[in-house]
Amino acid sequence: RQNERDSLYIVLNFAQKYYQNLLMEHEEGQSIGLSYFRNRGFNDPTIKSFGLGYSLTDWDGLTKEAAKKGYNPELLEKAGLALHKEGDAQANRATRYYDRFRGRVIFPIHNVSGKVIAFGARILSADKSQPKYINSPETEVYHKSKILYGIYQAKNAIRQEDVCYLVEGYTDVISLHQAGIQNVAASSGTSLTEEQIKLIARFTNNITILYDGDAAGIKAALRGLDMVLEEGLNVSLVTLPDGEDPDSYVYKVGAEGFKKHVQQATKDFITFKTEMLLKDAGDNPFKRAEAINEIVTSITKISDPIKRQIFFKRTADLMKMDEQTLISEGNKHLRRRE
Ligand code: UTP
Ligand code: MN
Ligand code: MN
Ligand code: MN
Ligand code: MN
Repeated sequence: RQNERDSLYIVLNFAQKYYQNLLMEHEEGQSIGLSYFRNRGFNDPTIKSFGLGYSLTDWDGLTKEAAKKGYNPELLEKAGLALHKEGDAQANRATRYYDRFRGRVIFPIHNVSGKVIAFGARILSADKSQPKYINSPETEVYHKSKILYGIYQAKNAIRQEDVCYLVEGYTDVISLHQAGIQNVAASSGTSLTEEQIKLIARFTNNITILYDGDAAGIKAALRGLDMVLEEGLNVSLVTLPDGEDPDSYVYKVGAEGFKKHVQQATKDFITFKTEMLLKDAGDNPFKRAEAINEIVTSITKISDPIKRQIFFKRTADLMKMDEQTLISEGNKHLRRRE
């Protein structure tokens, strides 16, 4: 098992170097991939520190190069790098495999200790019939639900700043880094898991969610809330203008403008959720009651009784409700759970 994992790390590291070399040295890589990254505003030190790359439009560029180095295609397949058509004859083994990533820019995904474990690959055209990103599948070394993109590059800064900014995408992590915000990691478009929260908790107790400023982003952020509270972490949220994500917004307003926005727009999560649910409920008393119940449920996920007390008080103020009513409602939930 350990042996197999080591072989995977080796071939993944080989692939990262291969893609990176194509981006920096190969004509197709430079004219298509490198200029794409530069057009997005990524500078060369940034491109280098994230190990970004490019995959040729060929069907089997990596597979062929790997074969020359003596890596067998089954290993490439186990690493999530190559595929093969099912039902191919046993003969012609070496040629029936083809590359998973083709004609895309490449984002290597590192584990906490800096080993390459997977890749994300972005399409360059606006072709809507193809997925924007193709990612490595689950492998022996890549468990999507247990890792956050950028955690390796971010971990020291997270410790130092004592907060982790959580974003949705690869490019959000990279652009914020370049803007001097290095304590940032991405959930890569999936909903946050308990393991990912525990990963952050190794470095800080504070998470600030900075998801895309669209309905999907807000919905995803809300989904993560109760889980983060249950893990005993403090969670805040920054909303971005509609249609912006951290990458596009920092590109628009610059590093200082972005930091200023974060300073002004950070809200603790309970306050955010309360305001949002109340706005949705309007004057409808049934919806308001439902909203109040939902907030109370969230507050009871907080294990620290002092924090809980503070949030009951704040929610009561926001909702113009009697604090004792909220607390006794919350106590019902707590008792039910015991
Ligand atoms: P977004 O659609 O917000 O993309 O998805 P993005 O990060 O802003 O990318 P750019 O700026 O258009 O290049 C957020 C994240 O969800 C995952 C990726 O990790 C992406 O960064 N995703 C998105 C996929 O895995 N596949 C997709 O087809 C789309
Ligand atoms: Mn197979
Ligand atoms: Mn999005
Ligand atoms: Mn986005
Ligand atoms: Mn984006």
